[in-house]
Amino acid sequence: MSYCNTRRWKPKIQMGVRFFFIIVCISIIHVSIVTGCRNVNKDNMKVNDMTTSQKQMENSISFDNPVPTNISKPGSLWSTVWDFVSGDEIREPVNPLGPFEVDLRVSEPPASEGLKVCWIGHSTVIIDIDGLRFLTDPIWSRRCSPVDMIGPRRFFDPPAALDQVKFVDGVIISHDHYDHLDEATIRRLGERDIIFYVPMGVGSHLRSWGIPEKKIREHHWWEGTRIGFDHQLVATPARHFSGRGIFDRNKTLWASWVITGKTHRVFFGGDGGFFQGMKTIGELYGPFDMTLLEIGAYHPGWGEIHLGPKNAVKAHSAVRGKVLMPIHWGTFKLALHTWTAPAEEVIQYAKTGGLPLLMPRPGRMVELPEAPLISRWWEEPEENRQLADAGLDSFSYAK
Ligand SMILES: [Fe+2]
Repeated sequence: MSYCNTRRWKPKIQMGVRFFFIIVCISIIHVSIVTGCRNVNKDNMKVNDMTTSQKQMENSISFDNPVPTNISKPGSLWSTVWDFVSGDEIREPVNPLGPFEVDLRVSEPPASEGLKVCWIGHSTVIIDIDGLRFLTDPIWSRRCSPVDMIGPRRFFDPPAALDQVKFVDGVIISHDHYDHLDEATIRRLGERDIIFYVPMGVGSHLRSWGIPEKKIREHHWWEGTRIGFDHQLVATPARHFSGRGIFDRNKTLWASWVITGKTHRVFFGGDGGFFQGMKTIGELYGPFDMTLLEIGAYHPGWGEIHLGPKNAVKAHSAVRGKVLMPIHWGTFKLALHTWTAPAEEVIQYAKTGGLPLLMPRPGRMVELPEAPLISRWWEEPEENRQLADAGLDSFSYAK
C-alpha cells in the first residue's frame, strides 16, 4: 500500500477499530448491568442495614438506589453508540494543558479556622475546614483504569505531587469507580496516619490493598463519624451505582458526604443524578457554605446517574448551598460532550440563577467566601495561566 493510500485508509481503520472496541465494551457493560439487576431482584431486598462489608460481600447482595434508577436510559444503547462514532465533539484538549503550579499552602498545616479548597482535578479536592484537612476521591494516577496501558488518560498532570500534599487528616471516598477510587493513590496514602471514610463495602477494596482495619471507617447512608469536638462526616444518599468489574455491580455502596466543622459546612456530592432526597439532605444538614457537585460525563442516556451542569445547579439549590464548586470534569475523557462544555454550560445556568461559582485553575487554593471566581483556565493561553497564577483570575460574571 502506498503512503497516500495508507493516509487515506488510516482514519477509516481507526474508526473501525474504535467501533469494534465500543461494541465490545457496551456488550460487557450490558452484561454487567443485567447481572447487577438480577442480584437485586433475586434477593428482593435492600441491604443498607447490613452491619459489615464482609457480610454484605459474602452474601453476594447488591445495594440499591434511593429511588428507581436506570444506569442507562432504556432504548438508548444504539443511539449512544451512534453518538460516539459519529459525533464531532472535541472530547479532549487539542493542546497539552499545564503544568499548573500549586499553592504551597498544601504542604502547610490547615488554618485553625476558615474554609479553603484546592482543586487537583476531576473529583479530587483538598478541603481545609476549621483546622482539619480532607481529601476527596484522590486520584494521582495517569489513567483511571484497571490497567496502566489503556483507559482514559488525564488531560494535565496533578498540580501537586502527592507527597507535597501534607497534613491530611482524612480521605473521603464517594464510591469505587476507577476515577474515584484509585488503588495506587490509596496505597500511598495508606502509608500515612490517615483515616479513610468510605461507603459500606468499599472497605473491602482497601483491605485487599493492605490498608489496616483501624484506618477504615465504613458508613451506610445517614451514618456519621464525629472527629474531635467540632467536626463530623455523614454519608448521605446518592443516585448512582458501583463496580470495578463485570460481576461486582452494586456490591459496594455509593454516597455523597456532609462535612462539617466548627463554623463551616460542605456538601460533597460524589457521583449521582438528581433526586428529591437531596432536599432532605439540605433540610437536615444545610445550608452549606460550599457544594462540590459533578458537572461532567453527562449524556441524555445517563441522566439518572449523573447531574450534568443543569442538574448540578438544581441540586445545589436543593441542598441549600451558597457557593458551587463544579467537579468531575476537565480531567478525563469519560463522555461524548466537548470537554469544555460542562464548564461553559454551568456558567450560563449559574448566571441565570444568580448563583456564585468557584472555578479556580487546578492547584490554586481559594479561601471562601471568595466567589464568584471563574478563572477560565480551560481556555489555556499562557497569559491566562500567568494571570491566574498571580491570583488575578481573568473573568468573573459578576464584574
Ligand atoms: Fe461513578
